[in-house]
Amino acid sequence: MNLLITGGAGFIGSNLIHHVIDDARIVKLVNLDCLTYAGHPANLEKVSKHPKYVFEKVDLRDKAATLRVVEQHAITHVMHLAAESHVDRSITGPGDFIQTNIVGTFNLLEACREVWLNRQSATGNRQFRFHHVSTDEVYGSLGATGYFTETTPYAPNSPYSSSKASSDFLVRAYHHTYGLDTVITNCSNNYGPFQFPEKLIPVIIQNVLPHVPGYHYTTKWFVISAIAISPVVVLFCSASYLLIERPLIALGHQVSKRKVTSIVVQRDRRAASAI
Ligand SMILES: NC(=O)c1ccc[n+]([C@@H]2O[C@H](COP(=O)([O-])OP(=O)(O)OC[C@H]3O[C@@H](n4cnc5c(N)ncnc54)[C@H](O)[C@@H]3O)[C@@H](O)[C@H]2O)c1
Repeated sequence: MNLLITGGAGFIGSNLIHHVIDDARIVKLVNLDCLTYAGHPANLEKVSKHPKYVFEKVDLRDKAATLRVVEQHAITHVMHLAAESHVDRSITGPGDFIQTNIVGTFNLLEACREVWLNRQSATGNRQFRFHHVSTDEVYGSLGATGYFTETTPYAPNSPYSSSKASSDFLVRAYHHTYGLDTVITNCSNNYGPFQFPEKLIPVIIQNVLPHVPGYHYTTKWFVISAIAISPVVVLFCSASYLLIERPLIALGHQVSKRKVTSIVVQRDRRAASAI
């Protein structure tokens, strides 16, 4: 397969690329990313010279450039992660979320429709798949009990989650209207290496550590956090990649933000005192 990963310089995308690049089924792995504040080429230093790896600095809002990438690299599978992804930023500036998450997804779907259904299928190739990586935030907020399932009604509460919900509906429509082979996943929060330090767990770590005796500012926070709690992003990458081949449903176990905060605080205190 020629796999296109969008948003590969971001947190999950870069972990995903490291996770899958040596899979023998991948002939070429193209990373499409326009490098916003959340995209860091340094995340990909280890794979930048890999013979299968190609980086395309392209903005999904540019429809022609997006089509060019899908066509030129004869892409057969897409894992679409590129997005504006931070809820707080969507409240102060929703415009980018609409443009990237909705219009950008539309441009990518159009590129795949054009190339897969009109051009490559003329050559007899029908092995395509579009995996759209979405969020559980499209379902709104959980109460004290219960969990989201595939039948939970959509109830997005922020510009971020409503833009992701809109993109889910577009992907769904391209499947039903045009027969595009699509998969949508609505995962919950991930945590791990290369995460931009504005998200929940990194924020807690940064706020707690300066108050821990023996902590030095020269110590990189993510080293400590990597000791302190195991990253869940690796699990997410494995599960997501399986979707390229076959559907998979994973049920996890739920932890409130308050509980996450208390776990991180306790473990980081222990980890820091061991330094
Ligand atoms: N991080 C989480 O816990 C979490 C949870 C649920 C769902 N998700 C979803 O997973 C995906 C990846 O999340 P993340 O945390 O890695 O995000 P991130 O913000 O770390 O990375 C996003 C990447 O997309 C790129 N990008 C943004 N706009 C672009 C555009 N217009 N064109 C091309 N590239 C663009 C950025 O440069 C960056 O590299 C997102 O779609 C997000 O909604 C994330």
